[in-house]
Formats: sequence, structure tokens, C-alpha cells
Amino acid sequence: MKAVFLEKVGGVEVLNVSSVPTPTVAAKEVLVRIKYAGVNYADILSRQGLYNWAGKLPYILGLESSGIVETVGSEVEKFKVGDRVVVASKIGNYAEFISCHENSLLPAPEEFSFEEAACLCGSWATAWTALFEMARVRPGEVALIQSGAGSVGTAAIQLAVSFGMQVYATTSTPSKMEHIKSFGATPLSYQDFDKILEKSNKPDFILESVGGDVHARSLKILAPLGRLVLIGASSIKVNKVNPFSWYNAWRNLPRIKVSDLHSQGYMTLHMGFLLEDHREKIIPIWTRMTDYMRQHNLKPIVRPECIFPMSEVRKAHEIIDKRKNIGKVILDPSR
Ligand SMILES: NC(=O)c1ccc[n+]([C@@H]2O[C@H](COP(=O)([O-])OP(=O)(O)OC[C@H]3O[C@@H](n4cnc5c(N)ncnc54)[C@H](OP(=O)(O)O)[C@@H]3O)[C@@H](O)[C@H]2O)c1
Repeated sequence: MKAVFLEKVGGVEVLNVSSVPTPTVAAKEVLVRIKYAGVNYADILSRQGLYNWAGKLPYILGLESSGIVETVGSEVEKFKVGDRVVVASKIGNYAEFISCHENSLLPAPEEFSFEEAACLCGSWATAWTALFEMARVRPGEVALIQSGAGSVGTAAIQLAVSFGMQVYATTSTPSKMEHIKSFGATPLSYQDFDKILEKSNKPDFILESVGGDVHARSLKILAPLGRLVLIGASSIKVNKVNPFSWYNAWRNLPRIKVSDLHSQGYMTLHMGFLLEDHREKIIPIWTRMTDYMRQHNLKPIVRPECIFPMSEVRKAHEIIDKRKNIGKVILDPSR
């Protein structure tokens, strides 16, 4: 089968499609024919060798995908041949097939296309868990979504708007701001979001994924009884051969002093940890999220220019590297 088998870390030039053996299934495993693989910011970090979660080289890149069950092992109980599924695993999804334990699969509801289903785990389940399972937001509250035009950001905006929150979201360009408006949120810039909200509307909920001074300034405007959920630090860049960049990254890593919190909540979320080690928590979250999306007719944003054949995997990473994506980027392994 064809797969993006990562043999060394670096720039997009390390991404190549190779021929590798099609995996077989053990007793509790399922072979899935992948329809679309989600490209996550974490994959960009893994490619650069900056994300320990992924594992040791060499490996097939990719944390999530949508597809159809092709073969099941002799002791598989939860899935059968032909089922539509979402795969969530540490590695292995930039490929035509993946073989994984049946616990790594989630059902892909019929009302989502395979393109949309490839966004449900890494982006939508992250946004859902932060808003509803952790921060337990309420209608009427004020939400601030950092990086609102991205993959997690567009999901978080759609969820928060549909729930009746007053939603603000940051981004970097006027055209991305127009998109944020079209999702029903008020766009703000990274430069002055804090000055604007401090005067008018301190957020009760903040989804923080940027790090550095954006993290520090977010915390300063969190309302009393507000909750900030930290999911990432996209602004942190490391050039492996430049020691100064390591120092800068260390300085910009999000950190807090408990004494700086005043009747406020600070939480961290790592979906990979929940998916890998706490499956029992994910299943009810998945059901609540997909039911809610169905009831509110919510669909992931996958723009045509963000769908790439796997042969163009370098372009798929570049669009994220260059901050050009709006919504999710996905790969089609059949092309
Ligand atoms: N903890 C978890 O379980 C979990 C799960 C999924 C994602 N995440 C994290 O959530 C964040 C968003 O992930 P995603 O997959 O949805 O990516 P994404 O938002 O589609 O892409 C990252 C975005 O970050 C924004 N950004 C802000 N400052 C930046 C900077 N200095 N350099 C580069 N980009 C910058 C850019 O958007 P603008 O141009 O609009 O600023 C960029 O498009 C990432 O940090 C990711 O690691 C965490």
C-alpha cells in the first residue's frame, strides 16, 4: 500500500509517499480502508521532531482518519466489515490502510461525509471537550477562541455560537476575519484582543492554543469565575540547530502561578491522552457531541482547497505551515 513513511524529521522535504506492506490484523484488530486522513497541527510538530507523543522513527505519520472496515480479527466484537469508522491512533493514518485495535475506532455517523468525519476526532472532539466537558460553558457567557479560523477554532466557534454564547475569535488576516464573521463570531486581532475585551466584555471561557504573550494576555482578561482551557502553543517555533530558539521556546511556553488565579479555573486538555488511556470517557463524549451536531445541523469546515491527494502531502503541510488554511486540511490516500 501507499503511505507517508517518516524516516527522518525536518522540513516538508522529508515527506514522501512510499510503498510499504499492507498491515495484517491480530485477533482484536481491525483493518480500515482509509478514505481521508486528517492533517493536524501536531503532525507538523511530529514531522519537525518536536512532538514526543508520536513515537520513535520510522513510522507512518497521522493521528486520525475516516474510512470503512475492510477486515476484522477473530475476536473483534464492536465492529464488522463495511462499518463507517473514525480512527484515532498515535500514528499510521497517512496511508491507504491502517490496522489497529478495535478500541482505536469510533463510529462515523451516516450524516457526515467521509471528508467531514476525518475532522471529528482531532478538531471537533477537542473543541467539544474543552467547552462542554471541562469548562461547562453556559448560554449567554462570553467565549474567546484563540486562532478561530483554524481547524479546532472553526469547530469551537460553531459549537459556542449554536449554544447561545457571545463569541469572539482571534486570527491574523482580514480575509480570515471575514470567515470568522460568517460563522457568527466577532473577529479580533492578536495585537489588541485583550484591550478590547477588557473594557467591554471579559471572557468567561477562553480556548487558548497560541502560547507566548497571547497566553499571558488571555489570562489577564479572564472574568471572575471564568475558565481557560489550554490546548496548544502554535506560536512556539524551534530551530533545532539554534540554541537561542530553544531558549525563546522555553520562555514562551505557557505557564501559570496559582497565585495569579483569582476565583478562576485553568485547565489543560490533551485528547491523545484521553483517546489512548481513557477510552471509557471518550465513548459518551463522542455520543453527546455527534448527537448535538446532528440536532444543530453542524458540519466541519473542509474547504475544497484544503483537500489534497496524498501525493501532495508536502502542500498539505505547507498550507498549515504558512497559516493559509481555514478549517481542516485532509488527505485523500487513494490519489
Ligand atoms: N490538546 C489537544 O488535544 C489538541 C488537539 C488538537 C489541536 N491542538 C492544538 O490546537 C492548536 C490548533 O490546532 P489545529 O490543528 O486546529 O491547527 P490550525 O488552527 O488549523 O493551525 C494553526 C493556526 O495557529 C495560528 N497561529 C497563531 N499564532 C501562530 C504563529 N505564531 N505561528 C503559526 N501559527 C500561528 C494560525 O492561525 P491564524 O493565522 O488564524 O493566527 C494557524 O493557522 C495547535 O496548537 C494544536 O497543537 C491540541
